[in-house]
Amino acid sequence: MIEKGRFTESETESLQRARQDLMKGQVVAIPTETVYGLAANAWDEQAVNQIFTLKKRPAYNPLIVHIGRKEQVEELAQNIPARAYQLMDAFWPGPLTLLLQKRESVADRITAGKPTVAIRMPHHRLTLALLQQLPFPLVAPSANRFNHISPTQAEHVRLSLGAKAPFILDGGPCKLGIESTIIGFREEKPVLHRWGALSREEIEKVAGPLTLHEMDEHDIRSPGQLKKHYAPHTPMEICPNIPQRLSEGNTQGIGLLLWTSRPDLDHQPQIILSPRGDVNEAAHHLFAALHRLDQMDLDLILAEAVPPTGIGQAINDRLRKAAAQ
Ligand code: TXA
Ligand code: MG
Repeated sequence: MIEKGRFTESETESLQRARQDLMKGQVVAIPTETVYGLAANAWDEQAVNQIFTLKKRPAYNPLIVHIGRKEQVEELAQNIPARAYQLMDAFWPGPLTLLLQKRESVADRITAGKPTVAIRMPHHRLTLALLQQLPFPLVAPSANRFNHISPTQAEHVRLSLGAKAPFILDGGPCKLGIESTIIGFREEKPVLHRWGALSREEIEKVAGPLTLHEMDEHDIRSPGQLKKHYAPHTPMEICPNIPQRLSEGNTQGIGLLLWTSRPDLDHQPQIILSPRGDVNEAAHHLFAALHRLDQMDLDLILAEAVPPTGIGQAINDRLRKAAAQ
């Protein structure tokens, strides 16, 4: 049952509705600290199938399983490395997904036939409460159409999925704004599979040096790794020298996505990710800025890379993928 006092009346109602829909095998959009997810009962194959249909997601792309209690890890995974437990203790709930050897009971549909299952415990008060009340974990990819910009507000989910959008548990704008960092293990040592909201530095403090995952044939098809992903419809370029580029010719139809304030650039439209030059603030605004620029009917978005410290690595990764042809 939902504890009284922790939530407003409307939050309590929304949580009840979300729970009922999920118990019936339906899909619900849920807020997390990273991005909104499209959630369904991980043990219900039909419910899981609906996610692939709604997102137009290819079957080769595996899903992350979201849990609300640490004990659930052992229902999903086995032979868990000691370092994985250290990472869970340090960062869960939080923006860290672990790739662990899957148990037989986890459907191949979820893992796209891989021997590992991706698991995370999200840090959002509504979603954590929901997960803690449900008798099953939730698979949840980001709640956007395949390859499109990730949603960091309930409104983005509506925009991306249109009339097909399911019930949305509105938890406000996502605090961090970039997907979770994905870590796997090779011979018990941590391997980075996706840059994300938890920085390499923070992970290395707990788990030692990280190696970068080398993509094989199969992984190249996993969209987190795909060259083009998180993409607006408008063409986009990462531009190391925007003033020079603007001086080269016709600037009409160009919109700017700037890392921080640039008094030398008065070209409009422009969106500044962090006026005070803070990478965390920039991450928080990134996808909303891409959504807004994409709605301006521009011919080209010129984007500036951010400093590659902390979450900055993940921001630059998303910018590169949004700009890839
Ligand atoms: O922050 C997040 O992780 C968000 C929120 C909703 O939790 N979820 C998210 O899900 O970003 P999605 O589906 O958009 O991205 C999941 C990524 C994909 O790149 C997928 O290939 C990878 O996780 N993945 C899932 N299972 C995997 C596995 N067993 N091995 C390798 N990669 C896996
Ligand atoms: Mg996604």
